[in-house]
Amino acid sequence: MTSATPAPTVLTGIQPTGVPTLGNLLGFFLPALGFQHTHTAYYFVVDHHAITVRQDPAELRANTHEIAAWYLAAGLDPAKATLFVQSHVPAHVELGWILNTFTQMGELERMTQYKDKSVQHAGKETGINVGLFGYPVLQAADILLYHATEVPVGEDQRQHVELCRDIALRFNHSYGQPVLTVPKHSLPPHGARVRDLQDPTKKMSKSRPGLGCVLLTDDTAEVEKKFKRAVTDSDSGAEAIRYAPEEKPGVANLLEIIAACRATTPQAVAEGLRGQQYGALKAEAAAAVNAVLQPLQAAKAAWLHDRAQLDDVLQQGASRAAPVAAATLARVKNTMGYLPAR
Ligand code: TRP
Repeated sequence: MTSATPAPTVLTGIQPTGVPTLGNLLGFFLPALGFQHTHTAYYFVVDHHAITVRQDPAELRANTHEIAAWYLAAGLDPAKATLFVQSHVPAHVELGWILNTFTQMGELERMTQYKDKSVQHAGKETGINVGLFGYPVLQAADILLYHATEVPVGEDQRQHVELCRDIALRFNHSYGQPVLTVPKHSLPPHGARVRDLQDPTKKMSKSRPGLGCVLLTDDTAEVEKKFKRAVTDSDSGAEAIRYAPEEKPGVANLLEIIAACRATTPQAVAEGLRGQQYGALKAEAAAAVNAVLQPLQAAKAAWLHDRAQLDDVLQQGASRAAPVAAATLARVKNTMGYLPAR
C-alpha cells in the first residue's frame, strides 16, 4: 500500500501551562519554527491536552495567549505559517474519538509520560482521569488531521509520535487505503535536550523550577545568577573546556546552550574557549542566553500588549486550519461508513 509522496508539512504543539523555559525555546520553539520556510507549517497551543490536569480558568486563558505570543516572538510569521488554538478546530476531538477505537489499552499503558504522570497522581483523591490516559490518541489526531510529515518535538515525545504512526498504519491497513499520512519524528540537531543547570543528568523542566531552570521571563541578572551557579566538575586543567557529554555533562550542557543560541556547534564553542576556566564558560553562556532572551521578551510583550491583533492571528489561523482538518475527518468517516450529514 503506497501513497503519493505527501507534501512536506510540519506540525507541532505545546501546552499552555506555566512559563516556558530556555529548554522549550532551544529544543522546541526555534527548531520547530525553522521549518516554516520550507514546509507547510502548523503550530498550535494544545489547550485540550492541558486540561488533562485541572487548570484554573483565568490561568488557562492567560497562558493560551502567552504561548501564542511566545511563538510569534520566537519568529513565527503568520503570513507563512498557521498558528491556532487546538480547541478552535473541533475536528481534533472528533478524530480523537474515532482513533480511540484503533488504539489498545496496553499501548497507552506503556507510554512513559502516562506512567510518570500517574505516579504523581498516586494516592491523591482525584485519581487518574481518562483524558490523561487517552492523551496520546488526541495527539495522534492532531498530527494526522493535517497530513504532517514532520513532527518536531523533544525526545520525551518520541513515543507518542511512534504511537501515532502505528495508529495511522493500522487505520490504513484496516481499509486497504492510504487515508492517513504516516509522520516522522524530527529531533532538532542542536540544543534538543537542554539540561537542568543544577543537575545536568535531568532535562531542564518547568516542573523542577529553581536555580537549575532558566525561564523565558528571567531578567538579565537572574540569567547571570543561574549560570554563575551552574554545576560543572572539578577539572581545572588546560583541557577542562571540551565537549564530552558522557564524561562532562555539566560542561557539555553549557556548550550546547551557547551553540544553540548562536547557531553553531558545541565543538566550535569549546574550541573558542580552549584553555580558559569555567568562570569564562559560564559568563559566555549567560551572555549568549541574554542576547537571545532580551529581544524575545520585548517582542512577546508587544504581542501581548496588542491583544486584539493577537486574537486576529489566532482567528485567522483557525480559519485556515479548520477546512484542512475537516477534509481529513470527512475522508476518515466516509472510509469507515459513517453516513454523511446533509
Ligand atoms: N504532547 C506534547 C507535549 O506535551 C504537545 C502536543 C500535543 C503535540 N499535540 C501535539 C506535539 C501534536 C506535537 C504534535 O509536548
